[in-house]
Amino acid sequence: MNNERIVRGEELENEADFSEERRFFLKQSVAMAGLSFLPVPFVTAAGGGDSSPGNPEPVKVTLTVNGTRHRLAIDVRTTLLDLLREQLALTGTKKGCDFGQCGACTVHVDGQRTLACLSFAIMQQSKKVHTIESLAKNGSLHPLQQAFIKHDGFQCGYCTPGQIMSGVSCIREKKAGSAEEIQEYMSGNLCRCGAYPNIVNAIMEVKNSGSQV
Ligand code: FES
Ligand code: FES
Repeated sequence: MNNERIVRGEELENEADFSEERRFFLKQSVAMAGLSFLPVPFVTAAGGGDSSPGNPEPVKVTLTVNGTRHRLAIDVRTTLLDLLREQLALTGTKKGCDFGQCGACTVHVDGQRTLACLSFAIMQQSKKVHTIESLAKNGSLHPLQQAFIKHDGFQCGYCTPGQIMSGVSCIREKKAGSAEEIQEYMSGNLCRCGAYPNIVNAIMEVKNSGSQV
């Protein structure tokens, strides 16, 4: 897909801009890595101007989300989760703990299951991100979304986007051979409503159906 969207008026005019963007990104990353070993007072004194810890200069990042390419200017501290929800309005990905412990924020980055709350957006440069919004096609739900409905795999639904994104990875990575294997793979996705048995049944059914996931 060749869609492209510019956000916050930070359009990069041409390839020269992209080269400049890459150089800036690399310098920023090296600087951050180095500064992380310094005591806070030293970092504050060395920063100066807008690059003080409380007001860092925006950095540019280009990434593809659900097939649409985005060029963004972001605070270097922005997580992928906050970028998705607050800058791209993709609120299907949920913020539960914001601490890497509940799985509500699970997305796919370059096909790998990823916790968006533990991933800095700047680290997703040139990567392909897929969220729960990417699963339904042409008005039809993904087979695992249909199975969650059929098997009553949710109550409040807050954990469900993360459960489904993890469930898709579980099947794709061939980790859905048994209920025990699914439980182990899905153990990072918590459900306060306790829908676990139904979630396992939904994943098992889709895996056994041989549906394309
Ligand atoms: S919000 Fe990311 S793991 Fe809980
Ligand atoms: S359905 Fe409510 S937390 Fe899982």
